[in-house]
Amino acid sequence: MTSTADIHPAGFPPRLQAIGTADAPFRPLLDVSALPEGTMQRVTVGELDVLLVNTDRGVFATDDRCPHMSAPLSIGDLDGCIVHCPLHEGKFDLVSGDTAQMPTTGGLDADGTYHSTWSPAGKDPKVDPPGKKAEARRLTRVRRLRYYPVRIANGAIEVAIPE
Ligand code: FES
Repeated sequence: MTSTADIHPAGFPPRLQAIGTADAPFRPLLDVSALPEGTMQRVTVGELDVLLVNTDRGVFATDDRCPHMSAPLSIGDLDGCIVHCPLHEGKFDLVSGDTAQMPTTGGLDADGTYHSTWSPAGKDPKVDPPGKKAEARRLTRVRRLRYYPVRIANGAIEVAIPE
C-alpha cells in the first residue's frame, strides 16, 4: 500500500490532453489522503465531472464519463491501470488512453474501425435487431480518454480545469 506521501501525478500521452487545459489554472480537488492507491473518485467542478484515479503509475485525472456512452466510470471497477465501465463491459487503459476491451455493443474504435457486438463468456450470443438503435450502436465511436494535468501541492491533488 502506498502512503499518501508517495502519491505523484502520472504522465499521459501529450496528444490526449483535454482541450482548454494548457493554460488552465490548477485547482485543489481532493486531499491526497482521500485517494489511496487502487481507488478512484468523482469530483464535480461546475458541470464537469472529473475522475481521479490513484494507480501504481500515479494519479490520473480524466472525465468521469465513459468514452463509449458516458456512463460514470467512478462506479466501475479498477484493475491496476485498467478502468472497467459499469455498462457494456468496456475497459479503458489509463496509461495509453486506449480501449482495452470494446463494449459489448460493438461500434467504431477511436480510429474508425468497426467492431461487432459480442457477449461475455457464459452468456447467450447477443442479437442486435436491425433498426435505428442498432445503427446508433454501430456508429458510436469509442474515443480515447482525455486527460487533465495533475499536480500534488500542499497535501492536495490539484487539477488544471478550464475556466
Ligand atoms: S457506456 Fe461504458 S462501455 Fe458503454
